[in-house]
Amino acid sequence: MTHIFDEKNFKKLDSPERRKILPIDDVISLVELTKDMVVADVGCGIGYFTFPFAKVSKKIYGIDISEVMIEELTKRNTNQNVIPLQGDFVEKLNAKVDIFFTSTVIHELPDLGQFTRDAIDKLNLNGQLVYLDFQKKETGFGPSVDKRISSDEVVKLFKASGLNEIEKILLNEVFYIVKGRKS
Ligand SMILES: C[S@@+](CC[C@H](N)C(=O)[O-])C[C@H]1O[C@@H](n2cnc3c(N)ncnc32)[C@H](O)[C@@H]1O
Repeated sequence: MTHIFDEKNFKKLDSPERRKILPIDDVISLVELTKDMVVADVGCGIGYFTFPFAKVSKKIYGIDISEVMIEELTKRNTNQNVIPLQGDFVEKLNAKVDIFFTSTVIHELPDLGQFTRDAIDKLNLNGQLVYLDFQKKETGFGPSVDKRISSDEVVKLFKASGLNEIEKILLNEVFYIVKGRKS
């Protein structure tokens, strides 16, 4: 069984504490967003990354399977270039993107291999797949260690999926980013 974030706790996804431990500006520069890019933030929650990403990209799809999250995202949205979509991205996302991003989502997925293949299908050539998640060790909060996916497992999966220019970055003591390019 995977660890599922309880949607009732959506307010926890944006707090001063989270902003300290998960610094948005650092992530923006690591993802290398530019104003001409189309982005998908899959499992976007209430828009912790969606809204700041919208300021530095052309268009961003905020996609989540949870109705509660998308309702809240829509309430908070003041950006013309944020497109909220509720449901499975395979069906709902009818466009190719330059960046396919997830934050603290992959440990919730029943089939990460299939999700990754589907994500790569939605990428433009030279587009990047970016997974941010908890390091697989005790960090004092977050999903239990046995439910976490290590950065090395993600690197292995990205290699097996045919991605190139794979990079693993430890953001701090808690979070990592793994990114890879479709070519
Ligand atoms: C811990 S929250 C993270 C939200 C946001 N990415 C953030 O960092 O603030 C995980 C989110 O992933 C969503 N989720 C889980 N599986 C998903 C899937 N297959 N497709 C889209 N969203 C999914 C959940 O509904 C939840 O909103």
